[in-house]
Amino acid sequence: MNSEKSVLILGANSDVAKECAKLYLQKDFRVMMASRNLESMEKFIKENHLNADQVDLLYFDAVDFASHQKFYSELPFKPNIVLYSAGFLVQNHEAFQDFEKTLTMMHTNYCGAVSILNIIAMDISNKNLEKIIGLSSLSGVRGRKSNFVYGSTKSAFTIYLAGLRQKLSSRNIKVNVFVLGYIRSKINEGLQLNESLMMEPDYVAKKIVNVGNSFVNVPNIKWKAIYLILKNLPESLVAKLP
Ligand SMILES: NC(=O)c1ccc[n+]([C@@H]2O[C@H](COP(=O)([O-])OP(=O)(O)OC[C@H]3O[C@@H](n4cnc5c(N)ncnc54)[C@H](OP(=O)(O)O)[C@@H]3O)[C@@H](O)[C@H]2O)c1
Repeated sequence: MNSEKSVLILGANSDVAKECAKLYLQKDFRVMMASRNLESMEKFIKENHLNADQVDLLYFDAVDFASHQKFYSELPFKPNIVLYSAGFLVQNHEAFQDFEKTLTMMHTNYCGAVSILNIIAMDISNKNLEKIIGLSSLSGVRGRKSNFVYGSTKSAFTIYLAGLRQKLSSRNIKVNVFVLGYIRSKINEGLQLNESLMMEPDYVAKKIVNVGNSFVNVPNIKWKAIYLILKNLPESLVAKLP
């Protein structure tokens, strides 16, 4: 029994995050699901017959930076684990022409994460905190012409988490980043993606919930190979990729 441990999931209406919530509940965590869509959270709990007594549903908008301090101060539990899973994606051609959408990607994928995670990390009174996990993307590994606007927000997030890991190491708090490839989830709806590379949300969630101490985590052997190749490819070859 692990009832005194709690996890705070930020952007909990994510398909991956919901699978994580199920697994944390199985591990007897107290789960704080923070989302801007509480109706959907309630539906998720009912449909999956989850123990509502073990879950706190909290309103959280990643891009409402001014609300973050109050949100954190009013948490029912100071978390052992924090998972930042909020994300927003528009295609590059759209982002390139519509700065509002670009800004929403920056705000959701990077600024919102930094805003709330700074507050969480600065709270030295929270002796429970042991782990912060962020969901980043393969598109943030190298700048590529097909996805560099979204990719740059994820790249910035990855770098932030790397520094945060160093900063928190003296308090023995681990920070992990998931560098993710394609997942069958809402964010990709309507996109034509290579099926043979597609991961399921429950598969990715298992990796997240059971993550060890290594900073970079790339689920799936094919994506691991792609990650390593991409990371080490000379810029002249990266420029030839889509
Ligand atoms: N799916 C992939 O192929 C893939 C690949 C690489 C990285 N990732 C990253 O993995 C994470 C999880 O994504 P997913 O695959 O589970 O897709 P998803 O189901 O679309 O989840 C993204 C979630 O972010 C939430 N969100 C967006 N803006 C928010 C805001 N302002 N405040 C609070 N929540 C907000 C959305 O909430 P609403 O439901 O309220 O809109 C949505 O539930 C994201 O960070 C994504 O960028 C995904």
